[in-house]
Amino acid sequence: MTRILFVCLGNICRSPMAEFLFRDLVEKAGLADRFEVASAGTSSEEYGNPVYPPARRKLAEHGISCAGKTARQMTRADYDRYDLLIGMEQYHLSAMRRICGGDPAGKLHRLLDYTARPGDIDDPWYTGDFDTAWNEIEAGCRALLAQLAP
Ligand code: 4NP
Repeated sequence: MTRILFVCLGNICRSPMAEFLFRDLVEKAGLADRFEVASAGTSSEEYGNPVYPPARRKLAEHGISCAGKTARQMTRADYDRYDLLIGMEQYHLSAMRRICGGDPAGKLHRLLDYTARPGDIDDPWYTGDFDTAWNEIEAGCRALLAQLAP
């Protein structure tokens, strides 16, 4: 069993898209019993809020529901609970390292670093560009799954 926590700032846009997209990929690959997937934010700003409507719409366009998901902040306990904690931006990695008190087990990663085009996934909450965010998240999730289940 591989436990994965996707992380962004608010946990209402990027990391929920990654959580539900990745879960959909593993279900379609018949690998659902091999993964536990969740998401959280580095900030408490959006605590308890549902997935932001444009992110929910991107998931729905692909037949994926995120019903029931509400935002939560990641905690130090997540570092022990999950095998991989995957942020969207370098900035998140710094915040994650601070929350976790370092990264002694090498569990903290950035999603696009699994692809041939490493980099940050810009915040669609600010850019309004949910199409680009979705495409990058999908590329990252596919590359991650290819690495974990070749
Ligand atoms: P996310 O986007 O990190 O992709 O969930 C954001 C959502 C809300 C805020 C920032 C980023 N905010 O400041 O409220």
